[in-house]
Amino acid sequence: MLRPFQWWREGVIYQAYPRSLADSNGDGIGDLPGLTAHLDHLEWLGVDGLWLNPIMPSPNRDFGYDVSDYCDVHPELGTLADLERLVAEAGRRGIRVLLDLVPNHTSDRHPWFSDPARRDWYVWAEGRDGGPPNNWRSHFGGPAWSFDRKAGRWYLHQFLPEQPDLNWWSKGVRAEFDSILRFWFERGIAGFRIDTAALIVKDRELRDDPPADESDSWWTQRHGIRIVHSGNRPEVHDVLRRWRRICRRFEPERVLLGETFILDMEQLSRYFAPGELHLAFNFIFVHSPFDPAVLRGRVEASEEALPASGWPVWTASNHDLSRFPTRWCQGDERRIRLALVMLLTLRGTPVLYYGDELGMEDVAVAASRLRDRVGLREFGHSSRDPVRTPMPWRDAPGAGFTRAGVEPWLPIGDLSRNVESQRADPGSVLHLTRDLNALRRRLADLRRGAYATLPAPDGVWLFRRGRRTLVGLNFSEQPRPLGVAGQVLLSSHRSREGRRVGALEPLEGLVLEA
Ligand code: NOJ
Ligand code: CA
Repeated sequence: MLRPFQWWREGVIYQAYPRSLADSNGDGIGDLPGLTAHLDHLEWLGVDGLWLNPIMPSPNRDFGYDVSDYCDVHPELGTLADLERLVAEAGRRGIRVLLDLVPNHTSDRHPWFSDPARRDWYVWAEGRDGGPPNNWRSHFGGPAWSFDRKAGRWYLHQFLPEQPDLNWWSKGVRAEFDSILRFWFERGIAGFRIDTAALIVKDRELRDDPPADESDSWWTQRHGIRIVHSGNRPEVHDVLRRWRRICRRFEPERVLLGETFILDMEQLSRYFAPGELHLAFNFIFVHSPFDPAVLRGRVEASEEALPASGWPVWTASNHDLSRFPTRWCQGDERRIRLALVMLLTLRGTPVLYYGDELGMEDVAVAASRLRDRVGLREFGHSSRDPVRTPMPWRDAPGAGFTRAGVEPWLPIGDLSRNVESQRADPGSVLHLTRDLNALRRRLADLRRGAYATLPAPDGVWLFRRGRRTLVGLNFSEQPRPLGVAGQVLLSSHRSREGRRVGALEPLEGLVLEA
């Protein structure tokens, strides 16, 4: 029987960093009305979902990832009414809106943190030998514990000290988040991207993590300890199942997209168990080098490990990582096009980060303009500001992001890649992205078809989707035979479309009808 259409499986999701899309009131900060005014761009591009980075009130120590009120909108970004308008306007264009939910921690300014009646909502503990309660480390460097003089005890924070971790063993916390989910679902929010979804439940006894040793790769450890008790606990799955039950009570079912920073495929696959997350990010793929054998191996490992009910997610850039046009492609437009063909033809849901559709690169941000405290803390973490700069809508002062003469919250980068000029050029990266989205909508093979690797020469990744669609990706600088011939439905070298070909040009990505 044909599975009914599920937008989150067959569609494309677009990630917007709301501070950086468009500023409607000239304060230099992108906001919800600004985003609403640009929904035509997303409709034209052909995306189905829009995930907004946190929009809730926050002291912005970590730009919204330190929430001080889970049921409102940050005044810099707008109001609840603005959000409702955004959801309605997006809905008219067939676009569903996902919010970011931050359940691992709150801001230290959240009233819960200083409420004596909610003591057990956070993780408080006695110190050990004059130091912190155990050896856990913050992801942002340093110990995961800070001493609170007033309380005379230590509290846990896996991120900044201003982001105290919630205690997910507390019944009160669980019940509160049930209501938060319902609050937003009742307002038409289609689902949540869940921040640090794998970390929220910690070992109840707060046992030390074992020290990392030579057998650990950079991803099984955090600053010298192996993450065994401080995160990725088996009990986290109870919470995910609880949330999925809430999602099911809404029509259409609401969607959970987990930020599952787990770089072991077998462990990651557990988050795809029936009744848990609908979607989960695959950082194993994101952190791959831009090498066809490695990328292919990681996709094959995912295809093998996922349960039948599991559905992959593919993404290449986000608000924490160097953008793929810089990290993978060093700005080389041929490689950027190749990467987009790959991203939008694999079996699974692609998530594009704003600007990906233009081939937007990281922007150099002068030290005096840095805003991300994580980079400023100098714990070996580099600043994330270069990947959060304003969207270049036009080659004009303010870039169409803000009014001319207004200093935007982060500097505007190179304007040679901008929406207006690429829209006017059918050969642009923007048109390629749009045509890939349109091809997905047209071809059930690309939306639903099974994935199968086919034999291919060195430097080439060739795969079949469904019954008759082939994707050939040539990562080498030389032409390569395909071993098969077919009609070109789409090529990153646009002039080849419609022809019958049996070989790939250097750095070409193409979709063929076999
Ligand atoms: C992951 C988010 O993507 C990142 O931006 C944030 O700083 C941490 N979680 C803490 O919430
Ligand atoms: Ca604004």
